[in-house]
Amino acid sequence: MLNKDFMFGVSTSAFQIEGDDGTQGRGLSVWDTFCDIPGKIYAGHHGRLGVDHYNRYREDVGLLSDLGVDSYRFSVSWPRILPEGTGKINEKGLDFYDRLIDELLEKNIKPFLTLYHWDLPERLGEKGGFRNPDFPEWFADYTEILLKRYSDRVKHYITYNEPLCAVHASYHAGVFAPGLQLNVEQSMVALHHFLLGHGRAANLIRDYRKDSEVGIAMSVWDYYPKYNNPECIENARKAFFCKDTPTESIDMYMDPVYLGKYPDRFYEMFPRVADRITDEEMKIIGSGTNILCVNNYTGEPLDQNGKKIPPEIGAPKSPVYSYYDPNGLYWDVRFLAERYKLPVYITENGSASEDIVSLDGKVHDPNRVDYLKRNLAMMEKIIEDGIDLRGYFVWSLTDNFEWLSGYSVRFGLVHVDYGTMKRTPKDSFEFYKNYIKDFKDR
Ligand code: BGC
Repeated sequence: MLNKDFMFGVSTSAFQIEGDDGTQGRGLSVWDTFCDIPGKIYAGHHGRLGVDHYNRYREDVGLLSDLGVDSYRFSVSWPRILPEGTGKINEKGLDFYDRLIDELLEKNIKPFLTLYHWDLPERLGEKGGFRNPDFPEWFADYTEILLKRYSDRVKHYITYNEPLCAVHASYHAGVFAPGLQLNVEQSMVALHHFLLGHGRAANLIRDYRKDSEVGIAMSVWDYYPKYNNPECIENARKAFFCKDTPTESIDMYMDPVYLGKYPDRFYEMFPRVADRITDEEMKIIGSGTNILCVNNYTGEPLDQNGKKIPPEIGAPKSPVYSYYDPNGLYWDVRFLAERYKLPVYITENGSASEDIVSLDGKVHDPNRVDYLKRNLAMMEKIIEDGIDLRGYFVWSLTDNFEWLSGYSVRFGLVHVDYGTMKRTPKDSFEFYKNYIKDFKDR
């Protein structure tokens, strides 16, 4: 049975949807400058287009209301609030999220606020971003501005979206903005500053709202045991949490936050970094957080020895994205809940395709409907198995700017015509709407 407070929702992020015509007082983010570099983003697409959510948020909240979701996960754009990253506030930016939150509450939809979904203010990027030891202070100051304004109405918070992308992909692999390729030791210093920023923010949130729920939306390696025996499960668990490359290893990101210390090998591999870490810092990192949040798109089976099993020919797959393997969803949630022993939210789950408006004026997306059916059935199994799952969020409400793929890949339950910004709910929108309703009526 579902808990009556179980949340069905959808997720979005600021840079992917808001758009900016240059009159809103928003500062640049590292993703704005990254989009300007030729060859980085598919066909030169740019995030400043977005889907004009900044102006059409009322229409979008109307869609959420029609969908019947309990909650809406969105992110605040740091450079919209603080164009320079610190200092002077852009009041128009603060007002925008005020209006959005009020509109949501009026429609009985709980705001689930992400503080940081990759759009670091460019000015702070120029000062080294996470490499700079001042980063935790910058992030705490920004967080406090939001809390002063919104914590009377917002109870649910995610500090960061996908630290693996924010740190590994952006500072070590260099594929995401700001595109740095630091060595591993430097990247671990950046990770430590980043986690300190999380800790500072999480503690502030708890100070402002005792009843708050605070987590980090993790992306993980969606490995799962192909066979249901203890050895296979144990090998999959090891592969899931622990990778040879520390910047890619989930335990390096999560153990400090949820268990209060880095994994043992961190102290052996990076003595110079470890020597400078104080007990006080570890205390800050390790407190304040009380929920687990996970983003999942796919699953990868591992054999008895923890080695990857290649997908079978014809295995269900999105036309432009990943395999439809809901076992990944199940084990993501289970592995995290077992290790860190907290309630879990699935904060992203979705599928991409190249949807078109058909001659009948509708958008038929049978693959996404199939994907959702498979994953929602798995969500029910997670609950039946007694895991404390508190919510499920689809990525995403509308089609949007899909980072390196620009606008070529569509994830929305609602189609967007990028010429006119017209919104057309897809078949998957109707499916999810009916599913939520039926589930609640059960
Ligand atoms: C991110 C989203 C992204 C989605 C689909 C997640 O990794 O949080 O921003 O659009 O995956 O790729």
